[in-house]
Amino acid sequence: MKVAFYSAKEYDQELFGTHSDEFNFLFLKNHLREETAALAHGYDAVCVFVNDELNRVVLEALHKGGVRIVVLRCAGFNNVDIEAADALGIEVARVPAYSPNAVAEHAVAMLLTLNRKTHRAYNRVREGNFELNGLLGFDLVGKTVGVFGTGKIGLIFARIMKGFGCEVIVYDPYPSEEAKLYRLVDKETLFAESDVVSLHCPLMKETQHLYNAETLAKSKKGFTLINTGRGALVDAKAAIEALKSGQLGYLAMDVYEEEKDYFFNDQSSGIIQDDVLMRLMTFPNVLITGHQGFFTREALEGILDTTLENLRAFSDGKELVNKVS
Ligand code: NAI
Repeated sequence: MKVAFYSAKEYDQELFGTHSDEFNFLFLKNHLREETAALAHGYDAVCVFVNDELNRVVLEALHKGGVRIVVLRCAGFNNVDIEAADALGIEVARVPAYSPNAVAEHAVAMLLTLNRKTHRAYNRVREGNFELNGLLGFDLVGKTVGVFGTGKIGLIFARIMKGFGCEVIVYDPYPSEEAKLYRLVDKETLFAESDVVSLHCPLMKETQHLYNAETLAKSKKGFTLINTGRGALVDAKAAIEALKSGQLGYLAMDVYEEEKDYFFNDQSSGIIQDDVLMRLMTFPNVLITGHQGFFTREALEGILDTTLENLRAFSDGKELVNKVS
């Protein structure tokens, strides 16, 4: 089976390359876009990641070239026009879970870093500066932590925060039995009561700009917002205004609405044109990482295993258990 593998990094090539006897992979550094869809001509499958764009035009081009299945190396599928894929008869399969611990633990790492300012302390100490001014943090114990979305990742994050002695409140329109062990609240209560909020819900119409000028204003003054979900859950321009006024005390972003042009690439020699991203990078109380929440050894192995299973199931005509529809 021939698989065009888009957005390939060295670590992908190393991992997936060990299965080249089973699948004929074409590793492409390019993202999948209208301009690059033709590279998959004559291939049975495309293997894609979070910042590949599979809109109707791209899917039509893939279909024309013979592609019959899209395998996502991620859980989120907001970058695929599922209706268009269905209409064209292209199957879409994803990796529903691959170490949710990786993302939950990264959210905790970002929270601890922002709060105790270890990123700033590290740089100071390297220059022989042991001054504490500007490094004041807060105890997490007793703080109210709001969790939006209590699926696999949100529940692990909630459990860890409970271990810190926080009061955990959660919002989820479809709460599982485990989620019900926490105080389930409505959105308004979560906005109003949380000292720290972590976003673990999918990006959909209802959750787009969940944090905007209005909801930021309703939130607790000086609260901490952690976004490891998807960039567009937060209106970045509104967040900048809230940071300037002090309404938003700290912001951690592993994801950014316009990340596709920058994240996963070395931009250090170029000029970043995105003024919103540049402004965010200037705040001492904003921590940005380049979509690395998933990036642990265990998670990569999980992604590899499930992606191969998806390809095998399709190639053997078996049920596609991770099908997105
Ligand atoms: P999941 O599907 O297990 O859980 C999502 C939860 O959100 C479900 O419980 C669902 O009921 C809930 N939900 C649905 N609509 C909601 C709404 N309107 N408001 C609040 N909650 C809502 O997903 P999982 O694995 O926990 O992942 C969560 C998100 O994390 C993914 O959608 C993805 O965007 C993001 N992610 C980020 C990664 C990173 O590297 N930063 C890696 C993997 C996932």
